[in-house]
Amino acid sequence: MAEMGQDIQKAIDLLVAGKLVAIPTETVYGLAGNALDASVVAQIFQVKRRPHFDPLIVHIGNLNQWSDLALDIPKAANKLAQEFWPGPLTLVLPKHPQVPDLVSAGLPTVAIRLPNHALTSELLNRLPFPLAAPSANPFGYISPTTAQHVNQQLGHELEYILDGGPCVIGVESTIVGFEDEQPLLYRRGGIAQEQIEAVCGPLKVVLKSSNPQAPGMLDAHYAPRKPLKFSSELSLPADLMPMHIGRLCFSKKSHKLPEQQQLVLSPSGNLSEAAQNLFAYLRLLDEMSIKIIFAEPVPDHGLGRAINDRLKRASS
Ligand code: TXA
Ligand code: MG
Repeated sequence: MAEMGQDIQKAIDLLVAGKLVAIPTETVYGLAGNALDASVVAQIFQVKRRPHFDPLIVHIGNLNQWSDLALDIPKAANKLAQEFWPGPLTLVLPKHPQVPDLVSAGLPTVAIRLPNHALTSELLNRLPFPLAAPSANPFGYISPTTAQHVNQQLGHELEYILDGGPCVIGVESTIVGFEDEQPLLYRRGGIAQEQIEAVCGPLKVVLKSSNPQAPGMLDAHYAPRKPLKFSSELSLPADLMPMHIGRLCFSKKSHKLPEQQQLVLSPSGNLSEAAQNLFAYLRLLDEMSIKIIFAEPVPDHGLGRAINDRLKRASS
């Protein structure tokens, strides 16, 4: 198991020595290493068992750092950064040559984000390099929203996890790219499409692609080990009894299943609270002695669209 704590100096020492450290952000925990050192970036892919065609996000501590990573920043990107950074928004920009090609999986662009978390912000501002960090889960599994989640799955591969408590947003950052000045939505996340459009006009939605530009867009992703059915109806399969079924509910439980096998994302119907609980509750259901998880769609607006996106992919 890895040590967990709030020792920023220890995280710095490990990162400067070329090791990986798990870090908290407002969205999910990241598996972080020196973004400018290709051999460190290679370790990230290895520990996460992540395919090399899936590029990483580079995390920075302040706005002065992105000019070393990206070239020709579109006006719309500047506006979005001013409005939403620090926060759960990732911008995909033309890549500076000093960023190793492994970070961007050979793409001519690089994904950059300025996270909103006090510990990680101090860490990033004290380090002499930015941090490449994918979510700190094995590839394809549920993203971690506590230090304990990270320790359960990657603890044997890490020395240290910077423990910043439970993530307050709970779903990954929204990813926005640009075609000239036209903003593109690559991944739904912690900032709603409506909020982004209020700042930079209509987004062209390009969430899916056969040759994935943003593999958070791969159909099967964020998945528990148990089969998950994403449906508002609770049609019990003939070969299963109610005791075999777990349910992730939005605001209330169903009378068709035993109470203790159902988890409610937000009893008051609040989408932010639902997003915060999403991944932790999927893990709890995955650990119950049930055979299948039914997940109910949440209202499809604002953060709800990012939640439904994760549930749909978890069901593929
Ligand atoms: O909230 C988050 O974004 C978290 C925290 C740790 O910051 N990170 C995260 O990383 O979700 P990851 O690796 O699980 O997802 C990164 C996504 C991938 O789907 C990847 O394809 C996309 O970012 N991405 C990275 N570089 C890209 C690029 N140049 N063009 C398009 N998509 C890119
Ligand atoms: Mg991920």
